[in-house]
Amino acid sequence: MRNFKKTIAGVLVLGTCFTVSQGGLAAGGSVHLEPSEIDPDNVSSLQRGARNFMNYCSGCHSAQYVRFKTIGKALELSEEQLIDNLMFNAEKTFETIRSAMPPEDGARWYGKAPPDLSLMARAKGADYIYNFLKGYYVEPGSPTGVNNVVLAGTSMPHVLWELQGYQEAHFVEHVENEGTDEEIRTAVFEDFRPLSAGSMDAGDYDDFVRDTTNFLAFIAEPIRQDRRKLGVWVLMFLIFFFVLAAQLKKQIWKDVQ
Ligand code: HEC
Repeated sequence: MRNFKKTIAGVLVLGTCFTVSQGGLAAGGSVHLEPSEIDPDNVSSLQRGARNFMNYCSGCHSAQYVRFKTIGKALELSEEQLIDNLMFNAEKTFETIRSAMPPEDGARWYGKAPPDLSLMARAKGADYIYNFLKGYYVEPGSPTGVNNVVLAGTSMPHVLWELQGYQEAHFVEHVENEGTDEEIRTAVFEDFRPLSAGSMDAGDYDDFVRDTTNFLAFIAEPIRQDRRKLGVWVLMFLIFFFVLAAQLKKQIWKDVQ
């Protein structure tokens, strides 16, 4: 019976772990990632993010695990608003976000097909995406004319250049074991300096990127809210079940002792 109790306790602890663990993993190489400060409960931010995504990203990227219907419901959009504002390349609300570009063409044009973005925020973390979209700098020798401090050598062009403008990145050289055979020189990113202005100032561009990131985090986990609620019910059930099992055990063993 002691084992039985231990098992129940184990199940309770496990249940708690599953409910508590949320959010994606962060990955960002060596560059310091600025916090994205997205707010998943801010519906207007999510609406703007959806608009940004459809206008600036869906030309190359799909989001094939999320249906327009799901987006409409969570973003409090009527079917009409959904069709007029977001559904450029879909006819029915149960469809998912398809990219305007066939993957083979993407691979041919960019050397690498633009990945599906449905789960990107979970795979890389919101901070990563936020900093990636802010991380483009001019590099004249590269095929796209730019490089990125978060994803060095990326084949994605700086698609938001009209909004952000162009910037330069400054690196300082970091030398380890100077003067020895094991001398290592690495360029460590220091800061950006603006080269040409875009249509947005820095603050507005940050907001634009934050809203877009917020939307990507939402599509990576559209049932986040529901899942939290479900977690509470699961825990309550487990506690209830534990009490019931303990009572039952008492009943069964009462005559034996
Ligand atoms: C012109 C086509 C094009 C457009 C438009 C575009 N992307 Fe990309 N994107 C790419 C390609 C190509 C890659 C693959 C890059 C690589 O792996 O180097 C990519 C990769 C990515 C990645 C993954 C980076 C990683 O670490 O693997 C993210 C995130 C991303 N894009 C976000 C966006 C967002 C957000 C937008 C809209 C603001 C957007 N992209 C618009 C072509 C595009």
